[in-house]
Amino acid sequence: MLLALKSNPEDVGREAARIVANAVRRNPAVRLGLATGNTTLGMYKELIPLHQHDSLDFSRVSTFNLDEYLGLSADHPRSFRHFMQQNFFSQVNIPPRNIHIPNGSIKSDYQQYCASYEQDIRSAGGIDLQILGIGRNGHIGFNEPTSSIGSRTRLKVLSKDTTEDNRKFFAPGEEIPQCAITMGIGTILEAKRILLLATGSSKAAAIAAAIEGPLTASVTASALQLHPDVTFIVDQQAGALLKQQDYYRRVLEMTAILTPDRL
Ligand code: F6R
Repeated sequence: MLLALKSNPEDVGREAARIVANAVRRNPAVRLGLATGNTTLGMYKELIPLHQHDSLDFSRVSTFNLDEYLGLSADHPRSFRHFMQQNFFSQVNIPPRNIHIPNGSIKSDYQQYCASYEQDIRSAGGIDLQILGIGRNGHIGFNEPTSSIGSRTRLKVLSKDTTEDNRKFFAPGEEIPQCAITMGIGTILEAKRILLLATGSSKAAAIAAAIEGPLTASVTASALQLHPDVTFIVDQQAGALLKQQDYYRRVLEMTAILTPDRL
């Protein structure tokens, strides 16, 4: 596990974009797992000019998004598909056929649909680099507390914490989806490399629990302790409750000397 502690949310976005851009340059056909949400906006904002002015080519990249609200069609302004289109896809050159986002408008055969999403990931060759945010309750994707550590893509009922947190994206009085389709923890853990971004004090307890707490389904991000190649990029506020900050700094310094390719 590597942890980079950054001064502010902008630096978190910049560092994440640097790692994604390096992954694309090293393997132009890289398969990215993507997340939505406020935390990821800075990263997408940094990646766009790298494409537009610095020849970062996404033409062979494939993407698989983590999740989508159930009941929202692709063109719904609150759908994650719409978020991705607005904030990233419309401004880079990923071919539409290479973009995969769970379909929130399916109305039956959920299990079959979710199995086919898993199959699409497998057929593409698996995810090389998975981007994650984290919920205040420690969720990754929409794997709410008590999700099985071995879970696969499936329908998930959203917790009250999550629906409250997401209220800000919806107009007053607008109905907030209660369910989502999400990759499972087991699906996420199969990615070759994982990058988790967190900013702001509201994430501090979740970050401390995920990294320094016990492995528990009550904080699903703690399952990342099982993964061999996870990098957390957090700002000062999100990292404030970590007890071993000095150690993480030393690990990063030594990694830069001994195995710079990991960074
Ligand atoms: C979104 C997702 C969620 C978010 C998390 C943090 O695709 O999978 O796990 O990453 O809820 O959201 P923000 O960044 O809005 O605080």
